[in-house]
Amino acid sequence: MKKFGKKVIIECALNELYKDSMEKHYYIITYGCQMNVHESEKIAGILRSKGYAECGFQEEADIIVFNTCCIRENAENHAYGNIGALKKLKRAKPSLLIAVGGCMTQQSGAAEKLKKKFPFVDIIFGTHNLEDLGRLIDIKSSQKKSVIEIEEGRDDIGDDEDISFRTSYPNAWVNIMYGCNNFCSYCIVPYVRGRERSRRPENIIAEVNGLLDQGYREITLLGQNVNSYGNDAGGGFTFPQLLRDICKRKEKFRLRFMTSNPKDFGEELVRAIADCEQICNLVHLPVQAGSDRILRLMNRKYTAEEYLKKVELLRKYVPDCCLTSDVMVGFPTETEEDFRATLDLVREAKFSTAFTFVYSPRSGTKAAGMDGQIPDEVKKDRIMRLVELVNSQTREMSAEYLGKTIEILCEDFDEKKGLYLGRDEYGRMGYFKSDARPIGKFVRLKITDASGVSLYGEECGRA
Ligand code: 5AD
Ligand code: SF4
Repeated sequence: MKKFGKKVIIECALNELYKDSMEKHYYIITYGCQMNVHESEKIAGILRSKGYAECGFQEEADIIVFNTCCIRENAENHAYGNIGALKKLKRAKPSLLIAVGGCMTQQSGAAEKLKKKFPFVDIIFGTHNLEDLGRLIDIKSSQKKSVIEIEEGRDDIGDDEDISFRTSYPNAWVNIMYGCNNFCSYCIVPYVRGRERSRRPENIIAEVNGLLDQGYREITLLGQNVNSYGNDAGGGFTFPQLLRDICKRKEKFRLRFMTSNPKDFGEELVRAIADCEQICNLVHLPVQAGSDRILRLMNRKYTAEEYLKKVELLRKYVPDCCLTSDVMVGFPTETEEDFRATLDLVREAKFSTAFTFVYSPRSGTKAAGMDGQIPDEVKKDRIMRLVELVNSQTREMSAEYLGKTIEILCEDFDEKKGLYLGRDEYGRMGYFKSDARPIGKFVRLKITDASGVSLYGEECGRA
């Protein structure tokens, strides 16, 4: 072993320290959906290509990027609160760059409002020009005043190169399309994400193959409405075809996708789920409401009965398929009877779990201008009743797993619990003890505790 004198060691340590202090650091704060989480991976990729490394605290950062969401008012309020809280840090460290991007800034007039409220923000960008962040940093570095660039939309979707810096191993997100054409009356997404644009199938397949080659074991395809994948490209390449092409790979991996819109969910897709072993038997199919009158006002283009028919079709081809959903309460004019229809549908569709939301008026959407907005206390009462029902269904289904064996893909270690964790094909979280480096492995667990929403078990084999 090479021996070092004390002086050399101290010098080396100082060099390391000096190098470290010379390195610039980034800190990203993400709000909202998985699409945003994945876009933050792209932001991280851009920042790394500019020489920044990640840091664990805002106080250590040279640039802080907010990737915002505006789907509900509370998402915006969180971002506003956290941006405002940086005023002190910016004053203490004037070289700190603060950038704000994402859905919130893309709303009409939002960038100006943000700049007025928080003049210390350096860079404001939108959803269509995330790839320009590196250039915007360069502009800001050569001028004093802040840089605001929001684009109305882009035809070019930056389709060929994967710029993401991924931290989610063994899971990876892959965008297959951007935007939404549906204009559900409550939803801001079509206004801030623009019209549907599908990535070319060969680029998606190349990205997925690259990820599988690197050892990723679970791929989630992302789009606001994956069922209309390919409709805009005119090439006649459908979403089920894309799934079947990806599944030509022979090794063991899992393929998931979200989100499916019930109005376009059909037999071709259901057959692909049934035929391809790699596609997880879990479908996220947001229903939103159970009353036909409310569904019509929401512009969802299906009735409760039509929705349940699709569930029946799915279960005919894939009997063990789990179903999850998004459900909303308090849409304008919703009566107690309408709400009860939602509860009935949640029971009938047997959702294994559901994301539950209180309707939040979004300026510029049709529903925000509707008469009959529901008082907060009524919304509160309904969301509590809905959550109780959903949780009781989830717990009931979990309880059936006591003593059974499930196979999870181990994805992380929970420091608080001191246990490894992962999800099974159906999205159920399983926790277990191990000293044998299980992350990235398919692990079989014998379930010993299924009393809550999560499952706990003992390892009994690996695939
Ligand atoms: N208020 C409450 N929930 C909303 N969602 C979309 N827009 C709103 C809104 N204005 C919910 C829908 C959608 C999910 C992603 O967010 O349930 O499926
Ligand atoms: Fe919003 Fe409806 Fe588009 Fe989903 S399908 S993003 S809820 S407009």
